[in-house]
Amino acid sequence: MLNLGRARTQQRSGRSMSLGGLDYADPKKKSNFVGKILLVATLTALCVVLLKQSPTLMAPSPFALHEPGVFHVLVTGGAGYIGSHAALRLLKDSYRVTIVDNLSRGNLGAVKILQDLFPEPGRLQFIYADLGDAKSVDKIFSENAFDAVMHFAAVAYVGESTLNPLKYYHNITSNTLVVLERMVAHGVKTLIYSSTCATYGEPDKMPITEDTPQVPINPYGKAKKMAEDIILDFSKNSDMAVMILRYFNVIGSDPEGRLGEAPRPELREHGRISGACFDAARGIIPGLKVKGTDYSTPDGTCVRDYIDVTDLVDAHVKALQKAEPRKVGIYNVGTGKGRSVKEFVEACKKATGVVNIKVEYLERRPGDYAEVYSDPTKIWKELNWTAKHTDLQESLKTAWRWQKSHRNGYGNPLVMSA
Ligand SMILES: NC(=O)c1ccc[n+]([C@@H]2O[C@H](COP(=O)([O-])OP(=O)(O)OC[C@H]3O[C@@H](n4cnc5c(N)ncnc54)[C@H](O)[C@@H]3O)[C@@H](O)[C@H]2O)c1
Repeated sequence: MLNLGRARTQQRSGRSMSLGGLDYADPKKKSNFVGKILLVATLTALCVVLLKQSPTLMAPSPFALHEPGVFHVLVTGGAGYIGSHAALRLLKDSYRVTIVDNLSRGNLGAVKILQDLFPEPGRLQFIYADLGDAKSVDKIFSENAFDAVMHFAAVAYVGESTLNPLKYYHNITSNTLVVLERMVAHGVKTLIYSSTCATYGEPDKMPITEDTPQVPINPYGKAKKMAEDIILDFSKNSDMAVMILRYFNVIGSDPEGRLGEAPRPELREHGRISGACFDAARGIIPGLKVKGTDYSTPDGTCVRDYIDVTDLVDAHVKALQKAEPRKVGIYNVGTGKGRSVKEFVEACKKATGVVNIKVEYLERRPGDYAEVYSDPTKIWKELNWTAKHTDLQESLKTAWRWQKSHRNGYGNPLVMSA
């Protein structure tokens, strides 16, 4: 576990210093001994003066203390696309934030941007750790005073989950259990959980409400549903405040252009439609591959509900504010409007200004479902949340601006961290 918290700059030395043995018979050695005593005394006095002049060196990390008026949120997966946007919003709203991420898919560059925006002590710390490592996770909870957890960290590609299901059950289901257990052990009382519309599978009736039966059809959706079930079973006899947010397809980026979506190049083949669209517009890939044209939808391509990341993180903050002990809130987070892949491609061409993007129509992709869009009435009624950024082309334009000015994503994380 590597802690890169700004507030924790003290060097901890695990090495003890040996001062050597004593020999009373030799006068030369005796004078050495006196010299050493003097040296130690001088150093000790110097240390005392330094510590007195610099009380912050003695003070415990602000992240370790519950402070009146300060609400401390652990953001798992905060170096990733949605987690970094959520951390930005929380910091803007004066929350204290700890990001835990193993950087398997996220970007240290995103964390660096957040640290530059909020450099004050006690605002943001980053802890490099894997949530699958229960010991490290326990250490994090024992060394920090969290008020709530927003659990974003996950692997999150439907296609990849069909190829490597165990990775998904481990990373999503098992790691959520670890986080939940550590929350209980350390008395953290609020959980906001990132779930997905993939838990519904392919329902007969649209739009999807929170009561639509959950019958996931791929390991990603199943792993998330299992994690939800664990949380729900646990909640029956717990006073934890829980909010489960089932996101639809997330697009867009920070309107002020500080953060964006920058998945690892090796994940491109599993990637999401907006990433593919931008890669095609930039000529990184030869064109777009639309998988499936014979679905029972108006134009034969899949229909999805695209939710802007700015709206999504707003839903998280509202969920956090309305979370109540002993209660579980489950909410769809979507616009309520379905858009076909063909519509998306046209919006992408207009947003990027690259009208000649080549589009290839292929067979269906295993694990995909035809039509998915939400009924967001419940979240509107109960959390007073509604999607505001519903112009697909505008959301894509915002994301495209970031993509154009970040041709290499966040750049080389090693250079960034230097
Ligand atoms: N992007 C979407 O359209 C979408 C839709 C529905 C739900 N979600 C959910 O939202 C959450 C965030 O997704 P995202 O799109 O930002 O993905 P992302 O890959 O950009 O971010 C996930 C982050 O989690 C980190 N992570 C993964 N495994 C970890 C582990 N074991 N320990 C510590 N850190 C780990 C990654 O390094 C990465 O920074 C996920 O839970 C995902 O299932 C996303």
